[in-house]
Amino acid sequence: MAKEPKRKMFCRLELMVLLVLLTTASSIALSSKDLTEAVAYLRKYGYLHIPLDNTHLNPPPEKTEEALRIFQKVSNLQVSGNLDSSTLEMMRQPRCGLEDSFTNNSLKYRIMGYWRKKMLTYRIYNYTPDLGASKTRQAIQTAFKYWSNVSSLKFRELHQGRADIKISFHTKDKSCPVPFDGRGHVLAHADAPESGIVHFDEDELWTEGKSSGSNLRIVAAHEIGHALGLGHSQYYSALMGPIYVGYRVDFKLHPDDIKGIQALYGKPENSPPSVIPHQPVPRGAAPDPCKAKLDAVMLAPPSKTYVFSGQYVWTVSSSGFNTPTVISALWKELPGSVDAAVYSQRTGKSYFLKGDKVWRYTGSKLDRGFPRRLTNIPGNIDSALYFPKNKKLIFLKGSGYWPWDEFGPTDLRSYPRPIGNLFNGVPSNTDAAVTWTDGYVYMFKGSQHWRVNQKNQVVEKKYPQDTASNWMQCDD
Ligand SMILES: *[C@@H]1O[C@H](CO)[C@@H](O)[C@H](O)[C@H]1NC(C)=O
Ligand SMILES: *[C@@H]1O[C@H](CO)[C@@H](O)[C@H](O)[C@H]1NC(C)=O
Repeated sequence: MAKEPKRKMFCRLELMVLLVLLTTASSIALSSKDLTEAVAYLRKYGYLHIPLDNTHLNPPPEKTEEALRIFQKVSNLQVSGNLDSSTLEMMRQPRCGLEDSFTNNSLKYRIMGYWRKKMLTYRIYNYTPDLGASKTRQAIQTAFKYWSNVSSLKFRELHQGRADIKISFHTKDKSCPVPFDGRGHVLAHADAPESGIVHFDEDELWTEGKSSGSNLRIVAAHEIGHALGLGHSQYYSALMGPIYVGYRVDFKLHPDDIKGIQALYGKPENSPPSVIPHQPVPRGAAPDPCKAKLDAVMLAPPSKTYVFSGQYVWTVSSSGFNTPTVISALWKELPGSVDAAVYSQRTGKSYFLKGDKVWRYTGSKLDRGFPRRLTNIPGNIDSALYFPKNKKLIFLKGSGYWPWDEFGPTDLRSYPRPIGNLFNGVPSNTDAAVTWTDGYVYMFKGSQHWRVNQKNQVVEKKYPQDTASNWMQCDD
């Protein structure tokens, strides 16, 4: 545990009274000792850089002034750049020990890391007697719900085995390398991804529905925010704000909390409706999944395999195929006869390619600015897949492939390269490709498909096999 968040709760009423008192006290003269204290605070919490030598020397006045302005801004104080007594008093409030790193002025959430998956498990190892087992579970469940409601994250509770996020209560004992400190001050601590550690100090009085004690649900939501990768926000009233505001009857995430979690994991996925209210008029008869020529295969949450053919799409499961539906019933703007479809596990986006254009969706919602013209890869791609090993999208055409990084600029000058370099033994001119739930890459062409082991990137023995009988569960 690299850093140990310290925080103490105080209710909003106390805070307001405090601020009123402090405003009237601002005229009291401050000593140079106060300035030293303020500089130490600004250094400790990341507002001022710590020099490698002479740490006792004060930084240049203009640097201190800039740091004070940022601190005042994020603490909802009057921004003067001067050390007044209300600023000093705010610095003396108990707070989270994780540093703020607000060395610049952009009002925004901060990111400490992220999980490379969106379905996370959690396990509650013990309960606080203050609330009892069922109310503890309820508080933790709701804390997760704040985040899953506004992002594409999904959480599942485990009762045994290893979970991604590990929640427990402990006291000053040695069960954790960072012991707690008894009642007050340090309430909880959590680690950035992909550690998953979230601990609560059992010496606190954990409560729900009142401003006395510490509200487990809200503290848990803040700590889970750290465990999911969010640092401190510069918005004073954000859940991830540096100074903890405490129990509020109408507690809600701040828009900045929501922006932060969505920057990491994307918006909630609106799973396509299973019952389509206004089925568009299909053009041409629905294909027979046992005989159809496949255009694309895509695996998208929650573990649904979509197969595209002409104007239609259907899902397949272990029991076979479901009734084909017109594509535009699920992705309104999307034309039929797509060339390729791929869902990115990295960003939660679905990409559809046709001709020289790409459509990008979040769930069933077309992203703004799409469709766009393809610029770095040629049009009329054969197929596309997500490659978890390097988190890239792979586009295939003819006997060549192009990798594409959704975040970084990709230098494609040395592409296309032969598909055989990537997956040994697969055919060229594929119809469709997908990395499936079992971790294998599948390539489809004509009535057959090839299975590639991702580890050695070679086609497995006994392939190709018949697609209709193995994927659609059609009788011969
Ligand atoms: C300030 O931080 C934001 C967010 O981290 C960053 O985008 C921006 O470039 C930074 N600005 C400066 C001047 O460092
Ligand atoms: C999650 O969203 C549902 C549906 O909008 C809402 O009823 C519920 O109160 C939300 N829960 C939390 C913890 O935000």
